[in-house]
Amino acid sequence: TEYYRITLLPGDGIGSEIIAVMVDVLKTIAPKFDLEFNFQEALIGGAAIDATGSPLPEETLNTCRQSDAVLLAAIGGYKWDNLPRSQRPETGLLALRSGLGLFANLRPATILPQLIDASTLKREVVEGVDIMVVRELTGGVYFGEPKGLFETETGQKRGVNTMAYTEGEIDRIAKVAFEIAQKRKSQLCSVDKANVLEVSQLWRDRVTAMASDYPDVQLSHLYVDNAAMQLVRAPKQFDTIVTGNLFGDILSDAAAMLTGSIGMLPSASLGASGPGVFEPVHGSAPDIAGQDKANPLAQVLSGAMMLRYAFNQPQAAEAIEDAVQTVLNQGYRTGDIMSEGQKLVGCREMGEALLRALS
Ligand code: NAD
Ligand code: IPM
Ligand code: MN
Repeated sequence: TEYYRITLLPGDGIGSEIIAVMVDVLKTIAPKFDLEFNFQEALIGGAAIDATGSPLPEETLNTCRQSDAVLLAAIGGYKWDNLPRSQRPETGLLALRSGLGLFANLRPATILPQLIDASTLKREVVEGVDIMVVRELTGGVYFGEPKGLFETETGQKRGVNTMAYTEGEIDRIAKVAFEIAQKRKSQLCSVDKANVLEVSQLWRDRVTAMASDYPDVQLSHLYVDNAAMQLVRAPKQFDTIVTGNLFGDILSDAAAMLTGSIGMLPSASLGASGPGVFEPVHGSAPDIAGQDKANPLAQVLSGAMMLRYAFNQPQAAEAIEDAVQTVLNQGYRTGDIMSEGQKLVGCREMGEALLRALS
């Protein structure tokens, strides 16, 4: 029996609803693959602010560090939107990522055939789309210095963030991206704004220099504005995309809509060593929280990514991915992926269907 310690971070909004479904799925799958999971829950985001005053209590970070993997749902909500930045839920999430050194965020956007009609784009545009966005996660404008609210000589407030990357930060994410591309269709598109930004020129130069180490990978470059357009115009041209923190945040939400809903997109946040965090791409969806309307599939698929990337259990991951396909084949749909002739269900009922599909 393989034994794993997993920290659960339900966070805010729909977090507790979707993580409950995923835990049931993991508990069902475990004995089938001779795995044993020890789950420990910890606080992050608004829930942690309310209980402790901090969006990432020291205790949470320690619990995460001592585990084999972390499963996060989402953080944030209206209630905490007016707190000073250091006390916001989002700051807790950023501190978790940087505290665990999770510089590489893998966001796969794969369209499942059952959901083509749920996409806002035409069938021929999205059919067969399979993109991996590799987003740099602990640098760029999210973390660059100086940052903050300053005052000008004339007494105006001036908000400042700095987009910065060192060569080392670029090289390590580029290496991850080249290696992922090699395992896919060996096409890597690096996205930047090198026509305007020095930080992007350095990004492009370093990625280009690394290409000689990977002669089998076909490297291309796009400016981010064009990349956003191309993602919607002809997404099938993309295989693997590598980009910085902010561009990756935005482009992965856009890529999510190719798959029908942001509620379908999982992600893996990985570092050089230590536990990774597996989290859906979407947020805490406060507009539907507590109503049993959330789509739990991005969370469930994040659990599958944990099995694959953290525990090297690809068969267990595939069993979960197959169960997702099974329930979609059976017609189960939450509101965000609903289309004509399908069965509208809530979060809990989708979970029950998954458990039936697994047993
Ligand atoms: P969001 O992703 O929470 O929601 C955007 C829209 O998508 C909403 O209409 C929501 O109902 C819908 N949606 C999202 N996930 C869904 C799901 N699983 N099933 C069905 N519908 C779903 O983004 P937002 O509204 O911009 O942000 C809300 C809060 O979440 C903010 O506080 C934000 O900072 C936070 N946020 C957190 C994360 C994270 O924890 N990783 C990511 C993004 C946003
Ligand atoms: C995400 C979110 C976060 C980000 C926020 C909530 C800090 O949008 O995980 O995509 O910008 O990285
Ligand atoms: Mn985002």
